[in-house]
Amino acid sequence: MKILFAASEIHPLLKTGGLADVAGALPLALRQQGADVRLIMPAYRGIVEKLPPAQRTTNLGNPFDVGDLILLETHLPATNTPIFLVQCQSLFEREGGPYLDSFGNDYWDNHIRFAAFSWVCATLAQYGNLYGWQPDILHLNDWQTGFAAAYLKSWKLRHPAIVTTVHNLRYNGSFPLDSFAQTRLSGDVLNLHGMEFYGRYSALKAALCFADAITTVSPTYAQEILTSEYGDGLDSTLRPRQDRLHGILNGVDYDEWSPEKDAHIEQHYNLETLDKKQQNKLALLRESDLPEDLNAPLFAVVSRMTEQKGLDLIPGAMQHALAQGAKLVVLGSGDKWLEQDYLNLAAQYPNQVAVRIGYDESYSHRIQAGADVFMIPSRFEPCGLTQLYALKYGTLPLVRRTGGLADTVFEGGSDANGFTFEHANGADLSYAIARCLTLWGDQDAWQQRQRNGMGQDHSWQSKTGAWLQLYRSLMPR
Ligand code: ADP
Ligand code: GLC
Repeated sequence: MKILFAASEIHPLLKTGGLADVAGALPLALRQQGADVRLIMPAYRGIVEKLPPAQRTTNLGNPFDVGDLILLETHLPATNTPIFLVQCQSLFEREGGPYLDSFGNDYWDNHIRFAAFSWVCATLAQYGNLYGWQPDILHLNDWQTGFAAAYLKSWKLRHPAIVTTVHNLRYNGSFPLDSFAQTRLSGDVLNLHGMEFYGRYSALKAALCFADAITTVSPTYAQEILTSEYGDGLDSTLRPRQDRLHGILNGVDYDEWSPEKDAHIEQHYNLETLDKKQQNKLALLRESDLPEDLNAPLFAVVSRMTEQKGLDLIPGAMQHALAQGAKLVVLGSGDKWLEQDYLNLAAQYPNQVAVRIGYDESYSHRIQAGADVFMIPSRFEPCGLTQLYALKYGTLPLVRRTGGLADTVFEGGSDANGFTFEHANGADLSYAIARCLTLWGDQDAWQQRQRNGMGQDHSWQSKTGAWLQLYRSLMPR
């Protein structure tokens, strides 16, 4: 079974969020089960240098008038996973991030950048036999790869099956119609049953309309996106196709994210040696310039700072807990006004609140290991990975009951492993925080919740069965 797994970010090469974690780990877990999965992503600035020299280089020409598109074939050294890189200097070798420039604005030509990347994915899928490796399945992830489904559709040839995974429906990759010609797509795919989207065209909609199977990253989100509340205008596209929509929960790479092995943390620990977590708490307080006090609960946030994550609710809802002496460590970046809210909170409580604006993979591990409560008050959350990491580290997740958070974090009953609240408002969140403070007063009960979480298995190995079954169902008979 041969699968081309296309993603715009892959850990450890480049990461802005959970998509990179998934693209870095799921293909490897599938390869360990015998599937021939190969990755493909754009060669952003600095990526080629991180990898062994290409075994093969193929020039695919200049169909977008932006310079030649070059396909490089190499592998990820740590795991030997084969990876194709799509090189095009004018499109990908830029100073800013993969989607945004250094000022935080979308690149003006994202429709061309990701159409070109997707065109290469589609070309390899369609004509791979000429190249010596043709996938049976093209696995697309999010809008950045969605144009590939449109190319395959518009070429009107028999082609490999298409699987589209939705990691986040909010980012629909839609652009003004007057730029459509620059994608070099034929008008055939631009209609109500194709890419047309409220007077624009959408790459994600193409990936949904032309996929043989659609997956998303949790069972609850798979249900939610069929409603107008969570469907972001695509629910009406999804509803008639719900027979091919599957919710498969994401997993965790426990080689990277487990307190027994984590290379970034001060003190290793596990279920049996849970008391050693305290040393990581002390180290985290020290690193965050907060007083080294183990008595008060330490709350934490590691997140993209966007409306999705509900982080605007925290500064207000934490006031009571802060007045009681609780502490808060925050790592994140994104919307400037949110960043400023947190900087203001840190200025107001210099001995209790530490805020780091930016992206820091290593510190994010130490926060998971050192904190007592990990907060994710998301308005919507397709899966969420940080609550899965928190569970493994004995850091109780406090989450809003939505999407993958609802599928993995429980407050009531004997399997309680964290705290949950229902509505995205300050009152519900404050009340959940108050319940944290109450439970903190009963350390035996607290530890029981930690153990419940640490004992759960969210490994990728436990998810590959569902993936292989889905892929098999799409194989030519
Ligand atoms: P999303 O993909 O919506 O951002 P996830 O919970 O699926 O949410 O994944 C987020 C990933 O990005 C996690 O691995 C998390 O640790 C990481 N992350 C988010 N913000 C930062 C940051 N500022 N520094 C380091 N890692 C971060
Ligand atoms: C998206 C979602 C997040 C999910 C991640 C990986 O970024 O926001 O909930 O965990 O993709 O699938």
